[in-house]
Amino acid sequence: MRSFAGRLIRSHPEEHAASLMHNIKDNPKLCAACHEEFAPGTGAYITDTYMEWADSSFNAPGDPAKNRTCADCHLHARVDAIGKPVPGRSTDGGPLEPNVVTHQFVGAQYHLVGLRDPHAAEETVALLRTSAKLSIRADGKDKVTVRVRNVGAGHRLPTGVSDFRQLWLDVTVTDATGKTVLSSGTLDPKGHLDPHARIFHKVLGDKDAHAVGLEFWRFGKMNEDTRIPADGYRDETYALPADTVYPVKIDARLMFRTFPQWITDLVQKRYPKLTSPKPVEMTALTQTLPASTEAN
Ligand code: HEC
Ligand code: HEC
Repeated sequence: MRSFAGRLIRSHPEEHAASLMHNIKDNPKLCAACHEEFAPGTGAYITDTYMEWADSSFNAPGDPAKNRTCADCHLHARVDAIGKPVPGRSTDGGPLEPNVVTHQFVGAQYHLVGLRDPHAAEETVALLRTSAKLSIRADGKDKVTVRVRNVGAGHRLPTGVSDFRQLWLDVTVTDATGKTVLSSGTLDPKGHLDPHARIFHKVLGDKDAHAVGLEFWRFGKMNEDTRIPADGYRDETYALPADTVYPVKIDARLMFRTFPQWITDLVQKRYPKLTSPKPVEMTALTQTLPASTEAN
């Protein structure tokens, strides 16, 4: 049966090809059908992944070195080789193709996919880790700035349901006496994130800018938007106390969690088996800085 099916697929009957074989690989508009969603009342875009991509430098059909379609990143056979062809066969005994495209749809949701498939979780974490890079600099007197650059997501970081995702900086600064002079973005023992953490997300408001909470379909006005655009960056500046003794050591970690603790708590009331997503370290950087000099 399997070899028969394989032969059928390879025979490329015209009808089959015309109705089923849309080229999803090279046509991101087919992804836009679902990865653009607007609120029925206000028309505001709740998710806008396609347009974020279309406006980015990854949409470069004339420049093969830079051009990345949605499929080039999400349907690629190997996350560690995005941008490079991975030869393979689509069916048993099928022809060797220069670049085999998979239906993995590796994205950001490592926790829920991981409950069924640990390998998918690993691939997802690997993709997440291609997204961002950090740099650190002293910024005037008694200030340090951590820059987060979106280098690998072909849209905003995070995209889609970025009102639920948690992407934040965990920063600790230790001064020359060994004292911790700054700590931002830690989780408390119950898993709740520091309310003052620098977080990269969007906060949806209704047409009068009142928070919509879980009722995302009431979205009208963006109350807050700290997502990082494709090819872009955000700078987060932290003030240090006046009695800080230099040089200081800065430990910066960019962390990601697919949903916050309050969602786990809410769902656990009905499904006690749901575990909390383990936060993922996307990237980290440690640097020692003298006072008020430019580094990097
Ligand atoms: C028929 C609707 C539909 C189409 C077409 C579609 N998707 Fe999705 N996709 C969804 C839904 C629904 C989800 C789950 C909710 C979410 O994460 O936004 C999803 C999730 C994803 C995820 C996230 C998975 C994760 O684990 O975080 C990726 C990546 C993705 N889609 C990529 C694509 C790409 C690339 C295309 C075009 C080749 C595409 N999708 C076309 C409906 C669709
Ligand atoms: C250059 C590589 C690249 C391209 C091109 C790209 N993505 Fe992504 N995508 C990523 C990375 C990395 C992540 C994980 C970080 C994030 O969430 O932004 C991601 C995450 C996602 C997610 C999961 C968001 C979530 O939190 O559930 C969806 C959905 C998605 N992409 C859809 C798309 C669609 C649709 C396109 C094309 C319009 C596209 N992507 C183009 C790299 C890419």
